[in-house]
Amino acid sequence: MTEVTRSRTTVGIVGGGPAGLMLSHLLHRDGIDSVVIDIRTREEIEHTHRAGILEAGSVDLLVDQGVSDRVHRDGYRHEGIELRFGGRGHRIDFERLVGEAVWLYPQTDVFIDLAGARERDGGTVHFGVTEPVVEGVTTPTPTLRFTDAQGEQHELACDYVVGSDGSRSMCRGLVPADVARHHFREYPFAWFGIMTEAPMSAPELIYAHSPQGFALISQRTETLQRMYFQCDPQDDPGNWTDDRVWDQLTRRTAGDGFELRQGPITEKVVLRFRSFVCEPMRHGNLFLAGDAAHTVPPTGAKGLNLALMDVKVLAEVLRRAVRGGEHSALDEYSPRALERVWKAQHFSYWMSSMLHTLPGEFHAFDAARQVGELTSLVQSQAGSRYLAEGYTGWPSQS
Ligand code: PHB
Repeated sequence: MTEVTRSRTTVGIVGGGPAGLMLSHLLHRDGIDSVVIDIRTREEIEHTHRAGILEAGSVDLLVDQGVSDRVHRDGYRHEGIELRFGGRGHRIDFERLVGEAVWLYPQTDVFIDLAGARERDGGTVHFGVTEPVVEGVTTPTPTLRFTDAQGEQHELACDYVVGSDGSRSMCRGLVPADVARHHFREYPFAWFGIMTEAPMSAPELIYAHSPQGFALISQRTETLQRMYFQCDPQDDPGNWTDDRVWDQLTRRTAGDGFELRQGPITEKVVLRFRSFVCEPMRHGNLFLAGDAAHTVPPTGAKGLNLALMDVKVLAEVLRRAVRGGEHSALDEYSPRALERVWKAQHFSYWMSSMLHTLPGEFHAFDAARQVGELTSLVQSQAGSRYLAEGYTGWPSQS
């Protein structure tokens, strides 16, 4: 008979991406123990390319909570973005409009910093587990069962379980259908993303509206850049030659003497576009956080920031419940997190629908109307400020 290692912890965390690891880190700082499990290996997570923009509040969380100050050394502070339309660039100056900035710092680096901090502080994180099972989330002692990477079986008794296990969340399935409302929206377009070994084309990110469709010129380092353009959701990266990719990116950003810097393309992916929210984000002693509870389309790069803000609120209410005996604090989690989630849902939807070519009978009207919207936005202090507030991130409610 196989031996099962039985142990207990206060918070069992399913999912060791940025949300799960940040939660574990914040709980540790409050003297609350947790165990994190993930079916992926540490290397797999490290090699998943995701968005690259951190709101000021996310950077503060990493630095003030002692995760790492590498973001200040290796990241790039951006005080604005450029909106390009009608062949001209228009800068939205975040610093002048709202006194804030964002940081270009890839999600993979956030993960590396968090995994390093958990290791440094002696946290228990099991990567590469198999057969994770969660039971009894509406009882006082939910249980987490899994087999670790060495093949050892574990049974972990928890006070609380957190599902931060991504968009294909297993934990979300534990919330009964008559309790959870799933809000879902698909879009008639996707993003074609590339990584290219080229110098930066501009000092800040460029969001371009054009008759050929949307394009985003983002960055990673002095020698590696990330770029995207709107494509058909059914597009296969294999059908796109490098020449075709550069042709689209160049046309969509043309004008104003702008020169797109090119280089060898090292990665091609098609990213799906969807909005999703699971309401509420709690069922009994199970709490959902990050992509397990919501997905936003990538325009505006809100996904990672939302995940970090979820766990900031969750760590606070767990601390009040566990250390202060204030059990009712847990009731605050879902409504407080969802307020920000829906603001970010709207922001991502709004930026997406303002910048992408919309198919259908009225596409010519829509394209001209979008230019009208963009023009009024850049000419209006109030409009530009609305964009700057959303992009740099609203103040957190805690
Ligand atoms: C990225 O660099 O991957 C990125 C940046 C901004 C976005 C989306 C993605 O809005």
